[in-house]
Order: sequence, then C-alpha cells, then structure tokens
Amino acid sequence: MQQDIKAFRASILHFTADPALSDKAHSWHEDGLLVLRDGRVQAVGDYAQLKDMLPPGTQVRDYRGKIIMPGFIDTHIHYPQTDMIASPAPGLLPWLETYTFPTERQFKDPAHARGVADFFVKELLRCGTTTAMVYCTVHQESVDAFFGAAEAYDLRMAAGKVMMDRHSPDFLQDTAESGARESEELIHRWHNKGRNMYALTPRFAPTSTEAQLQMCGELARAYPDTYVQTHVAENTDEVAWVKSLFPNARSYLDVYDQVGLLRPRSMYAHCIWLDNEDRARMAATGAAVSMCATSNLFLGSGLFDFAAADRQQVALSLATDVGGGTSFSMLQTMNETYKVARMGGTYLPALRMFYLATLGGARSMQLEGVVGNFGPGAEADFIVLDPKATPLLERRTTRCNSLEELLFALALLGDDRAIAATYAAGKQVHLRGE
Ligand code: GUN
Ligand code: ZN
Repeated sequence: MQQDIKAFRASILHFTADPALSDKAHSWHEDGLLVLRDGRVQAVGDYAQLKDMLPPGTQVRDYRGKIIMPGFIDTHIHYPQTDMIASPAPGLLPWLETYTFPTERQFKDPAHARGVADFFVKELLRCGTTTAMVYCTVHQESVDAFFGAAEAYDLRMAAGKVMMDRHSPDFLQDTAESGARESEELIHRWHNKGRNMYALTPRFAPTSTEAQLQMCGELARAYPDTYVQTHVAENTDEVAWVKSLFPNARSYLDVYDQVGLLRPRSMYAHCIWLDNEDRARMAATGAAVSMCATSNLFLGSGLFDFAAADRQQVALSLATDVGGGTSFSMLQTMNETYKVARMGGTYLPALRMFYLATLGGARSMQLEGVVGNFGPGAEADFIVLDPKATPLLERRTTRCNSLEELLFALALLGDDRAIAATYAAGKQVHLRGE
C-alpha cells in the first residue's frame, strides 16, 4: 500500500524531559523539518539534514517564520460549562448552585449536548489544544455527544460521565448503582474506540456518598487503563465541608485514597489545600495534579504551591478548568500560571510552562510516547504557533534574544490568535481565519 508521507518545514520545539530536572530537556530546530508517515512522527530534525531523506516528489508544507510544537494538553475542563464561562459568583459553592447545575441540566437532551460538544471541540482546536481530560454531565447522552464530536476530528480525548448521588439538585443525580452501571456501559461503548479514552468522573467528594465512591474505586480497579478525574482541595469552604462529611478521613485527599482512587491515570484538579502527607501520597501512587490557574484566581480559590509540589516530586500538569476557568487558551493559562507561581516565590521559566502544557500533561496521563512530543512513532498532533500573530506580538518577538524570551512573550501575550493551524493525527483540523 502507498504510504502517506507528509513533511512540514518550520522552527520546531519539543521536549524529552522536564526542564526543571534536566538542562537537555528540549530540542529546538531553528530551520527544522517534521516528517510524518501515516499520521505518526517518522522523523524530526534540521531541514538541511532531513530534506534528502524524503521520497522524491514529497510536498513540503512551508511554515518558515512559525514554530511547530506538540498540541497542548489540557488536563481538566468541563465541556458543558462552555455556555456559562465568565459567570460571576462569590466563590465555588455559590457558583455551582447558581450557574453550573442549571446549565448542566440541559445535557439530557442529545441535540443540545451535541451542539455544545461541537462548538467546544472547535474552540479547543482554535486554541491549539489537541488532548484534554473532559468532564461531561451526569447524563450518558452528554458523553455520547462529546465522544461523537471528538471522533469526527480523530482527537485523542479522555472524558466521562459525572457521578453524583447527593448534595445536588434531584435532576442531576444518579445513584451509586446507576452511576457505576452507566459508567461501565460507557467504558464498553467508548474506551479505546479510535482515540477515545474513558475517565471515571466522581464530581467531587461532597456530591458522592461513600457507597458511590466505593463503587467508583471498584471500577478503577477493574479497568486500570481507564482514567479517574475529580476535584480536590480547591476551596477552603469545600475542604471544611468534606471534613464534616467524612470525619474518619485524615484529609480531603484521603477520602479518595481510602477507596483506591489514587493511582496512575488519576487526575486531581486544583490541589491547593493539600498538606505534605497528601503530596507524598500523590507522588507514591502516581496520581497527578491538574493545576488550574485562571479558575483558581477567578473563583478566589487560592494559590497553588508549586515549590511544595516540586519538592515532593508530584506529577504536574496545566489545565483551563473552563467554565470556572476564564479562557480556553493554554497560552493564557500559562500567563496566569506564571503569576501564581511568582506569588508563591517560584520562578517558572517559559520552557517549563511549555513542557507542562505538552509532555508534562502527557506524562501525567501516562501518554508519553503516544502524544506530547515528537518521539518516533508518536501520534502527530501538533500546532503551528505564529510569533507575529498580533502587532504587539510581532513588535515584541522580533526583539527577543533567546528562545526563552520568545516563548515567554508567546505565553504572556498569546492566545487563540497565535495558533495559525492545528493538526491531529497528521491532518489539519484548524486553520486560523477559516
Ligand atoms: N467542584 C465540583 N464541581 C466543580 C466544577 O464544576 N468546577 C470547579 N471548578 N470545581 C468544582
Ligand atoms: Zn473543574
């Protein structure tokens, strides 16, 4: 059979290690070539070295002046909250009551769910995000709609049905039994179908009974290659509520630990109010942090402690947490992440932020070698960044003296406008202006 070879010429950046731990973490080809075969990376390197290896007649797409890098990975986002992004409320719990729950109610309707899912997926691609861990609602219909929208673009996405059997409106509740049964049905329907991956999704400890969390833990053991996603230690009122609901737990995180929900492929959003023992448990079990800067600032939840997470070697990733988060853009997310880190006394270089938004996210999801960098055989999900996307970006980036300065300007000033194109599995899925 004829092989499908594609080649792209641009400056090329990707990571093979965490810049915080290695000074050889990134690979940069000023005049680079990315070669794909059948939707996977075949080779990456300097144009001058690789060009003669191309089969005669191969078309080279010319993106000179732009930067190709792996697509962004957003490890925590709620697609049903797309239509309520930027809704004002004094903190997490009133925000959930006033906006979130009524909005999520509408996802029982498959047509509504599909409409929002289509918009959501396009918005991710416009912002350069090619992989995400996505909350749906309690309704199975919302999951079918999401995976249907994701597979139309052949995207590698993780998503799941919310499990929630108390402390929420009746119209949004399942039961311990129905939540587990429906989640298991969805695993059979969607997990590893094409590029889809299922995530068990107990909303957060306050909205699940102990029975529901136990059953979720059993599913996590029965299906170890599925994901688990939930929220932990986001807000001090929430932490106090969990303490009163689960008096026998040592901490909020311990509620999940006791039922076996700390494991590789478990993603914990926020992690602001953890203590050292919690972080040690996360590191020991392979559970990962999803750090949600724009959401944490918007809802006034608190400042994530980067220094403590690094000290204890917890797996870290970045996320938007839309609609608590205020932007779909991982560049805008880096911008705010940088400032949160500064407030906590940590200096986050741009190289580290781009690592966290690509390979760091992939590692947190146990997807290294699959997505997140351009290792040989990796699925070819990548973006084309435009350092001249706006007049201000152009002015600033033409005055940069190093890669770090260039990436820093893109992180602090960039947004969806800086994404000239997005590719998934080697196919163009977004072109700016179209
Ligand atoms: N905790 C429980 N549900 C949610 C949610 O929808 N968003 C955020 N940010 N936190 C939550
Ligand atoms: Zn969330």
